[in-house]
Amino acid sequence: MTLDYAPLEGVTGRDLREVHAACFPGVDRYWLPFLTPASNRQFTPRQRRELEPGPLCCDRLVPQILTRDPADFLWAAAAIGELGYREVNLNLGCPSGTVVSKGKGAGLLRAPDALDRFLEEIFAAAPLPISVKTRIGLEDAGEWEALLPVFARYPIRELTVHPRTRRALYRGDVHVDAFLRAAAVLPFPLRYNGNLFTPADVQSLQLAFPKLSGAMLGRGMLADPSLITRCKEGVRDRAALVRFHEELAARYLASMHPDGAVLPKFKELWLYLSLLLPDERLWKRLRKCARWAEFYPLARDLLNNEEFLDEADFSRLDQHDASFPP
Ligand SMILES: Cc1cc2nc3c(=O)[nH]c(=O)nc-3n(C[C@H](O)[C@H](O)[C@H](O)COP(=O)(O)O)c2cc1C
Repeated sequence: MTLDYAPLEGVTGRDLREVHAACFPGVDRYWLPFLTPASNRQFTPRQRRELEPGPLCCDRLVPQILTRDPADFLWAAAAIGELGYREVNLNLGCPSGTVVSKGKGAGLLRAPDALDRFLEEIFAAAPLPISVKTRIGLEDAGEWEALLPVFARYPIRELTVHPRTRRALYRGDVHVDAFLRAAAVLPFPLRYNGNLFTPADVQSLQLAFPKLSGAMLGRGMLADPSLITRCKEGVRDRAALVRFHEELAARYLASMHPDGAVLPKFKELWLYLSLLLPDERLWKRLRKCARWAEFYPLARDLLNNEEFLDEADFSRLDQHDASFPP
């Protein structure tokens, strides 16, 4: 079973992926946050920079496309193939209101017939293998039963299932039963995603679903960047965490405004990293900082000197979420 780092738009951009890979061994693949093809059939300079493989070669990167237009998908997939990638992923999970209202991301799950036509068009002309990342429905987990036979009709390279509806966003329990159904009826490789926050969570998944092609970890990796390393018998290494933090700051500061851009990015990271600290009031101190010059020394001090919990305390996240963005 391979362990991948999930795409997290606005967080796991190229800088974070490359710095993470240099500090923490063991991640099989890093997924690129979704990119939306523009109607002028050109990648923006920012998209080109994201797609440039760099030190992580194409085999360890999975680009993802968000669109409801089959022709746009095929154009972007072909362009991605020309860059050397061997797989392209279709996003059927993004829950954002603006995305869903345009019928993209999880919005494509609204009508199984329309999804079927979309998949038919893209698989009929696929320039490279297509994988899919999906939720189990829009409003209700019962929708999954009608979606399964649609997926089953296509040669999907791998289906990653985040077993929540769009309505649930990232909250509440995952529907393990829906994932079980997928494992029972779908003929292609499956990857599980959702609420894997500890090595024990990953081990239980492996025991429950020995045939899975893999798992994908998102927020757990933000809270403890060594999580996948630890799943592979490594340990959490404070020095690696400090280096990751320093190098990421240096990369961001090279191209972004400290207070206007780097500070909010680091606050988003620390929303999760702070779950590793025993005292939750420390997050409140961090989020109050209005300047990078105030935030960074404090954050660095916490990483260097605070005790860490054995595992990140995700029970605090819902409270934090309520006050996000910081
Ligand atoms: C801030 C944020 C950005 C995300 N961006 C993407 C994205 O670009 N593409 C995608 O497929 N999923 C995206 N997701 C969903 C994650 O990849 C993942 O499915 C979700 O966090 C659940 O997994 P986890 O419980 O391991 O975090 C995003 C989630 C968050 C919280």
